[in-house]
Amino acid sequence: MIHATLHQLKVFETTARLQSFTKAAEELSIKQPTVSSQIKQLTQTVGLPLFEQIGKQLYLTNAGEELLSTCHDIFARLDNFEMTVADLKGVKEGKLCLTVVTTGKYFIPRLLGSFCQIYPHVDVSLQVTNHHQIHQRMLENKDDLYILSKPPEDIDLERRAFLDNPLVVVAPKNHILSNQKNIPLSKLQNFPFILREVGSNTRKVIHKIFDDHNLEIQVRLELGSNEAIKQAIIGGLGLSVLSKHTLTSSCYEELCILDVETFPIHESWYVTHLSGKKLSVVAQTFLDYLLVESENYTADRQYDLAHSHH
Ligand code: PGA
Repeated sequence: MIHATLHQLKVFETTARLQSFTKAAEELSIKQPTVSSQIKQLTQTVGLPLFEQIGKQLYLTNAGEELLSTCHDIFARLDNFEMTVADLKGVKEGKLCLTVVTTGKYFIPRLLGSFCQIYPHVDVSLQVTNHHQIHQRMLENKDDLYILSKPPEDIDLERRAFLDNPLVVVAPKNHILSNQKNIPLSKLQNFPFILREVGSNTRKVIHKIFDDHNLEIQVRLELGSNEAIKQAIIGGLGLSVLSKHTLTSSCYEELCILDVETFPIHESWYVTHLSGKKLSVVAQTFLDYLLVESENYTADRQYDLAHSHH
């Protein structure tokens, strides 16, 4: 492999990722025959086919899969090296890959805004998704940092809790329970509920609390987003349990939080990364920034803002 060039590896990685010689040529701004010849030379060096073409579809062989994961390691090391050099020169630059859980989008983008003002050369990629997908991304080592409320037990992670994540029962503003105090959980059985999709931690929490108390939940509707659920609650389709962070101050014009026993359920947000992973300079800088900045933030801020006028 000592004869393989970095350029060949780059061509290979691009082709594998895009599953097409033509698209790889486009992305790399080189000619398609160049892609083919680079792959051919690399195949000779390896001594085994890297791709298999079936019909129009390009597949990686086992050797191709192995080489692809080796390429990821090599490129990650090189990226890291570039960041370290930039850091030695006194600038923070490079790429930051983050995945945050759905409810994190009410907080993290703003924090990234202020972070990027201090470090304008940092290039950020932010994915927002549910717990199941984050778990998947962790297994594939896709990101530098993951922000979520239930770090999986089966993956070796470094974790730091940094912010309260209260889950509350949400109803339309003039709901008949809206003025009652300490509503027994069993009363919720009489109302239809809107649940998040399978794979969502919020959904799991609701099921668990009903199961633990031997209560039946009436599921009216399933929706794949917290925003859609809020609209459905306003539309009178049912109640739901949501992270308080999803309730921005304007929501309180049309929604309210019910005072139900055992609620709020107190979870935390964790910032995590794979234990074996050496954090890049940029990822470490963001992690430190997050831990400091989040001290000034709580989920109650929006609630307080909405209620301060009354
Ligand atoms: P979920 O998690 O999107 O998987 O439901 C949200 C949360 O834990 O706040």
